[in-house]
Amino acid sequence: MKFVFFGAPGAGKGTMAARAAVAFGLPHISTGEIFRAAMRAGTPLGLRVKAVIESGGLVSDELTIGLVRERLGEADAARGWLLDGFPRTLAQAEALAGFCPEDFVIDLEVSDAKVVERLSGRRMCRGCGRSFHVSLMPPAEEGVCDGCGGELYVRDDDGEASVRSRLEHYYRQTAPLVDFYKRRGTLVSVDGEGRADEVWVALEERMRGLIASAEA
Ligand code: AP5
Ligand code: MG
Repeated sequence: MKFVFFGAPGAGKGTMAARAAVAFGLPHISTGEIFRAAMRAGTPLGLRVKAVIESGGLVSDELTIGLVRERLGEADAARGWLLDGFPRTLAQAEALAGFCPEDFVIDLEVSDAKVVERLSGRRMCRGCGRSFHVSLMPPAEEGVCDGCGGELYVRDDDGEASVRSRLEHYYRQTAPLVDFYKRRGTLVSVDGEGRADEVWVALEERMRGLIASAEA
């Protein structure tokens, strides 16, 4: 089954897709995480995207589409996938519909106030990329990942100016895709405002229902 996790920055796409990957045994493919891993490793891709990501802009469609197309062609994605952070523009959505059409788009709906609260307290693991929150989802030991023991850090694009820019890009270029997916009949709206455990319980049940109905 092929799911797109959609929503504003801080909606919980990464948090929920990581749980869904475990629950449904599908690969979690986050374009943001692919770019951050490349930046950490200092690869040519990382050097190319660093400035635009840190300022809260969008990486070019050409580069992003090529990267996702290649990733979805890998063996572990043959049974399905969970895409997180892609597509973000109409060109990306049309490209995906052409080379590997989605089954469902999970639209995590959250208010702007919640986005700001979540991003201002987010901490990410340098080792495995898992996200925590200083008050909403704290790790057992401050500054240390519960999963792999890695060091937690603040993402370079979680500063106030970058968050504002990411939200502007979201409303201008990404939010209009809701209509695109409504027309395709694949949009599934989910209330993402609650606590992570509450959102996950409702989402898992919804995803199980979608999978059962698609396979019936
Ligand atoms: P990306 O990494 O995709 O960033 P984003 O879309 O801005 O989303 P975030 O990762 O900030 O939020 P999220 O929805 O995953 O929330 P999370 O689960 O972490 O992209 C980064 C950059 O890469 C982009 O700005 C762009 O430059 C580039 N890029 C990536 N894809 C691209 C593309 N397709 N085209 C062009 N450029 C691209 O949760 C946030 C916080 O809240 C965490 O602290 C978490 O612990 C907490 N939390 C989550 N859910 C809950 C909950 N229900 N209750 C309480 N706390 C919660
Ligand atoms: Mg994310």
